[in-house]
Parts: sequence; structure tokens; C-alpha cells
Amino acid sequence: MKGEILKILSENRESVYSGEKLSEGLGVSRVSVWKHIKKLQQLGYRIESSAVGYQLVSSPDALYPWEFPTWEPNIHYYSEVDSTMTIAKELAGKGSPHFTVIIAEKQRSGRGRLSRTWYSDTGGLYFTIILRPLIPPSLMSRYGFAASLVLARTIQRHFDIDARVKWPNDILVNEKKLCGMLSEMEVSDDRVAFLNIGIGINVNNDPTHMEPNATSIRTLTGKTIPRKKVLTHFLEAFEKEISRPNLDHVLTEWKKYTITLGREVRIVTTQDTQYGKAVDIDNTGALVLELPDGTVKKVFYGDCFHQP
Ligand code: BTN
Repeated sequence: MKGEILKILSENRESVYSGEKLSEGLGVSRVSVWKHIKKLQQLGYRIESSAVGYQLVSSPDALYPWEFPTWEPNIHYYSEVDSTMTIAKELAGKGSPHFTVIIAEKQRSGRGRLSRTWYSDTGGLYFTIILRPLIPPSLMSRYGFAASLVLARTIQRHFDIDARVKWPNDILVNEKKLCGMLSEMEVSDDRVAFLNIGIGINVNNDPTHMEPNATSIRTLTGKTIPRKKVLTHFLEAFEKEISRPNLDHVLTEWKKYTITLGREVRIVTTQDTQYGKAVDIDNTGALVLELPDGTVKKVFYGDCFHQP
């Protein structure tokens, strides 16, 4: 209902919209309309109300479910959580459907790859998507590649930023980190029960207090960006991208957006560190490294650092 009220008011921003017309159009009482308007005002929407009706003056940059009408029933919104990954795991375990999205304004203990912390201040975009993939577990990394490809494309297209992908799934701009991604999956009986992809995007936050080598969309464009616009563009494009059979095309497309291939890299895992030249990725997404002695080795996970 809140989404429908906002839609009508934002289409009629220039004038005052009568409460009677709202209640007739929505098939609810005027009191019910008034209660929803009150709640929206409390949530930060500036709606002027008078004896004649209502007028929407401004909306907050909030990520409430009704801001994403296409996916509204599957959106779980929190003002603060420990980590959206934890909530996603619980919800996936209870049977939440494919493309359930968990969004938080802030995370108390945001998680990064390899047990790092992902600092999650106000102004950033933090969400996890629950997927129920139908393809074999061995091809699961393609979803992460699809997500990083779509992120880079979305940021390039809509914000005119030269966003590139660093293997496997970081988004960098001029070698500074703009987005990070974390995946968790559960396999049972040789099939993937769920794959949760968590994404953190530095939008209007300043990550440099904690991560000097990071940047944000606001820093790069000089403008405060509506986060709902970033998320809507991403969800639309990602849903389309992963609807293609077996995600066969994804790795070829991803290669057009990466700055890792052809570079000398250092790969750090929990076990060791390796140096080499990144020459390709195979069809599971593993990085193909040419080692200093000329031999070729595949790397399946790890932190990748581009060498100067
Ligand atoms: C990395 O680059 O190390 C991965 C960062 C992933 C951060 C996101 S923010 C939303 C989701 N919830 C988390 O706790 N982590 C991921």
C-alpha cells in the first residue's frame, strides 16, 4: 500500500492529491490512507498534508521494500544487522525463494572474503541475494562472475565510471576498491540447496577511514547518488543475466571487463602466496597462472593483488 500511495503522489508531485481520490483509487478507507501517510512521514518522506489532500515534497534515500516494486514481496529490509549473510543463511534454510534480497542500512559485523571485516557505515549499499540455482555445483562460480560483470556494467553505464573487475569478483576503479562480493553455498545430495551472494558497494559512504585503498561512487562523481537507483539497475540486469541457460556466455563477457588478465599478480590464500602472470580463466572461473618457471597452474580461490 505504501508503494502504491508513493507511486500516485510522485506522479502528481506538482499538485495536491485529494485524500478522497487516493482512498477511492486504492479501495481503502481515508483513515487507512492517513495512517500510511503518517507512517511514511515518520520514515522520512516529506508529504505535506492539508484539508484538501497530500503532496509529496521529497523522499529519503531509503531502501524500503516498496521502493523496489518488482521484487517487493521478496525483499527483507533492516536498518541494522550483524551481517546480511547471516540473515540470508537463516532465511535460505527456512525455504525463502530464489531471488530473495536482504538489505541493511548498516552492518555491525559485515564480513569480507578470507575472514576479513567489511566496514559497513551508513551511506553504503549492503545486500545479499539468495539464489536457488539449477545448474551443477561445479559451475556455481559463474553466478559470482555474472554478479561482478553486471556490477561493472551497471556502474559504467549509469554513472560513467570506468569500473573494472579484479579476479574473482572485486570492482576496482583506478586500482581502488569500489565493491566487494562474498558467496556462501550449501550443497545437499549433489545439488546446490542455495547460493547466497553478498555485495557491498561504496556509494555515499567514505570507506577510506578504514580502507585507504578504497573509493566510493560519491567520491568519483562528486555527487550524492540515490542508492535505490544503484540497486534497482543492478537487480534488473542481474536477474536477466542469470536467466540464460547454464550462464555459458558469462565468462566471455566478464573477460571484457577485467583488468586482471595479462597482469603480473600475487595470489594469497590461507595456505601460501604465489606469483605469476594471469593468462586466462577456465570454464569454472579458476585463474590460469603462468609461473616464473614457465609452468601453468590453476588457482581456484584466493586474494589477487595486481603487481605494479
Ligand atoms: C570482500 O571484498 O572481501 C567481500 C565483501 C562483501 C561485503 C558484503 S556487504 C553485504 C554482505 N554482508 C556481509 O557481511 N558481507 C557482504
